[in-house]
Amino acid sequence: MGGFEGRVAMVTGGANGMGRACARRLAAEGAAVVVVDVVESAGKELLGEIAEAGGRAELVIGDVGDPAVIEQAVGLAESVLGGLDVVVAAAGIPVPGYRSGSPRAQAPAGLEGFVEMSLADWDEVLGVNLRGALLAVQKGVASMVARGVPGSVVVITSVAAANPTSSGHVAYTASKAGAQAMVKHVSRLVADKGIRVNAVGPGLIDTNMSRTYLASAANQAVFAHIPAGHAGTPDDIADAVLFLAGEGSRFVAGEVLYVDGGQFTG
Ligand SMILES: NC(=O)c1ccc[n+]([C@@H]2O[C@H](COP(=O)([O-])OP(=O)(O)OC[C@H]3O[C@@H](n4cnc5c(N)ncnc54)[C@H](O)[C@@H]3O)[C@@H](O)[C@H]2O)c1
Repeated sequence: MGGFEGRVAMVTGGANGMGRACARRLAAEGAAVVVVDVVESAGKELLGEIAEAGGRAELVIGDVGDPAVIEQAVGLAESVLGGLDVVVAAAGIPVPGYRSGSPRAQAPAGLEGFVEMSLADWDEVLGVNLRGALLAVQKGVASMVARGVPGSVVVITSVAAANPTSSGHVAYTASKAGAQAMVKHVSRLVADKGIRVNAVGPGLIDTNMSRTYLASAANQAVFAHIPAGHAGTPDDIADAVLFLAGEGSRFVAGEVLYVDGGQFTG
């Protein structure tokens, strides 16, 4: 066991990709984990993996933008697993209509995509990426404050927050920039209580979300813009998240740690 023995973590978007890597690693290091996701099959598979490895996890199926779903997850952490010390908000969608593990929804990007974007599309992306992150941060922090315990909250954002590309979706860029601003603001409200709120900003990472993009020969040119020369893995992100969630980062608060193979240099 490792540095999270006796701790309880909630991981949104934990059934796939980066969230899944974070949940698996937190469990392997001793944490009990509540996974929140909309994809039940992958969530159940992960719970089986964690149990087989001797860990403890619970699954809540639902939309992170629904306060009742996050309240259920926090309640489960407190009443069944004994508390809540770590929150990882990883749930996200790149475009409207995206479902992890299904063929990627195509939404027009660029100027045409912006001009034609409906408010329903804008609301859908912000509803998951920004409202969902807000609820995880707000309910997680509220639980820690009410129980008078320290804790760590990590929101997965994106290099797009500070370095938008013309091929991405405007709502995605705005949602991730909003999440980073929220992280910095909330961090200032709770740092004196020993609660730290930080973000990890991934570059291009090989997950369901990027797989179609990475598989397209036309997109191979993207590697020329990544000094490391390749995409990252979910474990590259989990390493950064566990650093921010753990004791080793005890004086790090309100920061964005970009994990992108050197792609974004500010
Ligand atoms: N893959 C990349 O290159 C990349 C780059 C930068 C940032 N990100 C961000 O990293 C995070 C993780 O993405 P990933 O690449 O691991 O993708 P992924 O599709 O593999 O995993 C995302 C998870 O979030 C879940 N999810 C989506 N909408 C949800 C909702 N409304 N409620 C609950 N769960 C929901 C999905 O079902 C899935 O399990 C996202 O926030 C994404 O925006 C990804």
